[in-house]
Amino acid sequence: MPIEITVCVGSSCHVRGSRDVLKRFAEILKAERLEDEVVLVGSFCMERCGEGTNWKFNGEDVSSGSVEAAEETLRRRLAETLKNSPKG
Ligand code: FES
Repeated sequence: MPIEITVCVGSSCHVRGSRDVLKRFAEILKAERLEDEVVLVGSFCMERCGEGTNWKFNGEDVSSGSVEAAEETLRRRLAETLKNSPKG
């Protein structure tokens, strides 16, 4: 099962830089050669506007205050998830 990452690109999150988060995530996945293991998609408003830039890691809600914070969370979650996957 691929890991699924969804980034909100609704107007509130867009204003908070969600396009940059999406772009950065795509760059990370490419650099780490995880494009086959991770599905990255944009989504409409997640109805959590105002919390930060909103996104989901495998269906779990995440809010990040900056691109850097989002990147840090993404890297940590990826490391945790891939460590526990049977593929190793
Ligand atoms: S615009 Fe992202 S949660 Fe509403």
